[in-house]
Amino acid sequence: MSNDVLIVGGGTVGLATGFELVRKGTPVTLFEKGKAGHGTSWQAAGMLAPDAEIGFEELELYELNRESLRRWPDFAERVETASGVNVDYRDEGTLIVADDRDSAEALRRLYEFQEEQGLNVEWLTGEEARKIEPFVAPRLSAAVYAPSDHQVDNRQLLTALREAFVAEGGTLHEETPVAAVAPDEATPAVVTEDGTRVEGKEVVVAAGVWSRDLDGLTPDAQPPVRPVKGQMIQLRRERPFDLQHVIRGPDAYLAPKSSGRIVVGATSEEMGFDTTVTAGGLYDLLEGAWEVVPGIYDLPVDDTWAGLRPASRDHAPLLGRTAAPGVIMATGHYRHGILLTPVTAEEVATLVRTGETSDWLGPFAPTRFPNAQSPSPTA
Ligand code: FAD
Ligand code: GLY
Repeated sequence: MSNDVLIVGGGTVGLATGFELVRKGTPVTLFEKGKAGHGTSWQAAGMLAPDAEIGFEELELYELNRESLRRWPDFAERVETASGVNVDYRDEGTLIVADDRDSAEALRRLYEFQEEQGLNVEWLTGEEARKIEPFVAPRLSAAVYAPSDHQVDNRQLLTALREAFVAEGGTLHEETPVAAVAPDEATPAVVTEDGTRVEGKEVVVAAGVWSRDLDGLTPDAQPPVRPVKGQMIQLRRERPFDLQHVIRGPDAYLAPKSSGRIVVGATSEEMGFDTTVTAGGLYDLLEGAWEVVPGIYDLPVDDTWAGLRPASRDHAPLLGRTAAPGVIMATGHYRHGILLTPVTAEEVATLVRTGETSDWLGPFAPTRFPNAQSPSPTA
């Protein structure tokens, strides 16, 4: 029995929520089945890009994304101070580019929608785009510049968050899978795979795409999340090649990090928990990236991988109390989990500490799905 808040999962969501709690004096024990930070969050591109990634039917999510971006600079500073690790926060903005007539038409539709919503975006000719970023292809048909979008190095972030959580007094159990959650209003508990039962004050499920696998939750409390596979390639910058902006082409994006990593992504595949890297996936990404930034042709390939985005049925996160007493959900962050880290961590920490659900969390209640048993959007 302890008075700790128990967090299941040490990705960006679990670690950051734990960090926000412990730094305010709430004790936390976090259980991670592997090494903290090495789940989906490690596989991401680290873009903080609400404007470039706005969805036509996702305005509520856009507001949450924007709010999280607004909180990012303070959050980054807090995490860096507590950990002593730099997270490579960069604010050069995103260039969304089109390389033929069809993609230029699609880009024009996106731009008009962005304008309607009052976003800070600018329509550019290919030539104007090259003045902002000289490494984009000479024959681009058009571009949209989104200067308010930012990025971090998500791997540096995860290293920093792990350090910061522990430095502020959080208890971290790595290589400790949780098998089940035991809901209870007064003393909810988790049961680890070796059969140890640990009781606490609240349980926060932040197990990403694996959040559905926990035993002990009734079907109405299980989060309807499913994996959406994303294959990635890591190139290494070699000067004179020196891309500075995040570039989003019709078929691939490139995110250059200060360390010299250039992350090229990503496929979007409904393949269950499969993480195979395929020839076709790599081919599509390399071709898509080369068409918009031809200078990548001679760069060394450092690594390839596939990550699993935790997608809910409406592609928005599940944040707040569930039908299971004492169990809070913080999962389903899909394409935006790095971006949504500050708002998730701060608002979930407030919910735990005060019992109050803030207006930011309200629209993302895990109880919003009438038939939570199915993770599929069409069920
Ligand atoms: P995770 O990082 O997966 O953390 C969950 C943790 O829980 C894992 O460490 C896991 O080991 C642990 N766990 C699971 N089950 C158990 C258990 N039973 N017991 C104990 N521990 C358990 N987002 C952005 O904002 N910007 C981007 O540019 C971006 N790019 C992406 C690119 C790709 C290719 C992918 C796949 C995703 C991308 N995302 C991006 C999305 C982002 O990565 C996710 O939304 C985010 O990482 C989810 O964080 P999480 O903490 O919920 O999950
Ligand atoms: N947000 C980038 C991705 O999901 O690939």
